[in-house]
Amino acid sequence: MKKEAPTDRRGFVKLCASAAAAIAARPNSLVGAVKHGELYQRVQLRKQDDTPLRASTLKHNENYLFFYPFVSTPCFLIRLDKTIDRPVRLTTGRGESYNWPGGVGPEHQVVSFSAICAHKMSHPSVQVSFINYRSEEVQFAGNDSQFHRRSNVIYCCSEGSVYDPAEGARVLGGPAPHPLAAILLEHDPNTDALYAVGVAGQSMFEPYFSAFAHRLELEFKTEHIDQLTRHSAYVVPLTQFCLRQVLC
Ligand code: FES
Repeated sequence: MKKEAPTDRRGFVKLCASAAAAIAARPNSLVGAVKHGELYQRVQLRKQDDTPLRASTLKHNENYLFFYPFVSTPCFLIRLDKTIDRPVRLTTGRGESYNWPGGVGPEHQVVSFSAICAHKMSHPSVQVSFINYRSEEVQFAGNDSQFHRRSNVIYCCSEGSVYDPAEGARVLGGPAPHPLAAILLEHDPNTDALYAVGVAGQSMFEPYFSAFAHRLELEFKTEHIDQLTRHSAYVVPLTQFCLRQVLC
């Protein structure tokens, strides 16, 4: 039976009411992306000891995880080893164009994406993750039907979708029909703090709640798996959240 996502809709209504104010408060950082995305609540990224996460303390190429914009929707946080200071134009599966704004942080290296695969929604669970950021060189079949070897990709080993995190999670190969949804981040240069503020591109949240509701309720020990993340989101290495990573 299809599960409704009432909080999603409530969150979106709130979003509409607050989006104009949020854009006005942060005119330069997000307008281009938000035009084809959604602003959600502004949430500070924090460490498990409840202190603010500092962008400059993130390890390069570590696969971090947090939950946003809902308490059960996983996101990757990655500090790449290169600067990405230009927006990338991408297209959803519905043919809508949107801008991914690039990296944030002191060197524009910090990026974030929904960890729900755009193909059949494989995602990290407590037991296992088939979708992982891979800093080492991997081989995959590209969109041109040729084999490629590349490092620094997000690889979903369920059916072989590969995404480029330096290009807004553009699809490099496999059956995924569109990029991973991008999590919009803000960086406070005075404090080095990071905030998640919205989502750009095509999210998979409603089908994710419909397909996995019962397992998510058990895993998160709540029926309110579609509650919005409030105030803070706790960032951990993926290896700490997930018992086993499947690496293909
Ligand atoms: S679910 Fe990721 S490739 Fe199929």
